[in-house]
Amino acid sequence: MPQFHQNILHWYHQKKRDLPWRDHPDPYAVWISEIMLQQTRVDTVIAYFECWMAKFPTIEKLASADEQDVLNLWEGLGYYSRARNLHKTARIVTQEYGGKLPEKAQELIKLPGIGRYTSAAISSMAFGHDAAALDGNIRRVYARLFDIDAVLGTSQAEKIFWAIADENLPKGKAGDYNQALMDLGATICTPRSPKCEECPVIEFCKSYKLGNQAMRPVRKRKKKVPHHVHSAAVIVEDGKVLLAQRPVDGLLGGMWEFPNGRVDGGNPVLGLVDVIRAGYQVQIHAGEALCIIDHAYTHFKITEHAYACTMLKSVIQENMRWVNLKDLNDYPMGKVDREIAKKINR
Ligand code: ADE
Repeated sequence: MPQFHQNILHWYHQKKRDLPWRDHPDPYAVWISEIMLQQTRVDTVIAYFECWMAKFPTIEKLASADEQDVLNLWEGLGYYSRARNLHKTARIVTQEYGGKLPEKAQELIKLPGIGRYTSAAISSMAFGHDAAALDGNIRRVYARLFDIDAVLGTSQAEKIFWAIADENLPKGKAGDYNQALMDLGATICTPRSPKCEECPVIEFCKSYKLGNQAMRPVRKRKKKVPHHVHSAAVIVEDGKVLLAQRPVDGLLGGMWEFPNGRVDGGNPVLGLVDVIRAGYQVQIHAGEALCIIDHAYTHFKITEHAYACTMLKSVIQENMRWVNLKDLNDYPMGKVDREIAKKINR
């Protein structure tokens, strides 16, 4: 085996992080962890992973679960389409694959929520197949090792990175090798202040020789994200509060929220009555201000003003429900609405 691979694999066997899904005998566990790790840090994922495996220990259990329970467990991890896709895929695997995840990346990639990276990660780590995976950490490691100056996220850069990943994959060791590069990126070849002196492949690193680690990988300039102001109505009657369920497609799909709408630039109290009438066909009177919540999503920021409201006309839509204040935790919500729910239950 070339020295480069020997160094990386030796380092991995000495220093690998002890993670509950590593070397797990069940491919299902590897799949769940990979989906959780797509947009979330390892430290955060560990507790969610343990909780998930306790509640949905097998693909069949997940397939027969209620979607609201799945979303409830996922609450706080964000990017909720990941949870809905896990649920959908569990059903497909149960019905069409005899309850077993397919082994090959070309098959896995056909399933909802599984893309090029995840299919390769599962195939290599859970089944020992030769598939190169490429995540953010591995792109950074390769960008420095090979001094890649293509701009991250462009199709030109993607071609280069996948070619490098394929060419450098040690046959028969892809699972460990992929995870070794992930750990190297997470612990040594970090975005800022990489610990090059501790790197097992320092002698192969072009970027180290050139001293340009801080400039690799080359990133696109960040666009300014828009900031929206929303007002939300907390309508309480007889110990119950009115919630609305979001459409299943799109941001926070299928989750519950306090009726709200965008009031950008306008007066948040005056705007509230209009947006609630327009968005929910509900007439309200806006009362006392309850709280103001700030939150950053990937593509925009939001400031939401919540007001205690009373209902003037009480015909509600199909996607709305009166919920006992003490049952609010049973309804999966995004961060902003959960903050409001906590505030009114305090
Ligand atoms: N990120 C995604 N998958 C991972 C894994 N198996 N180990 C460490 N970090 C990861």
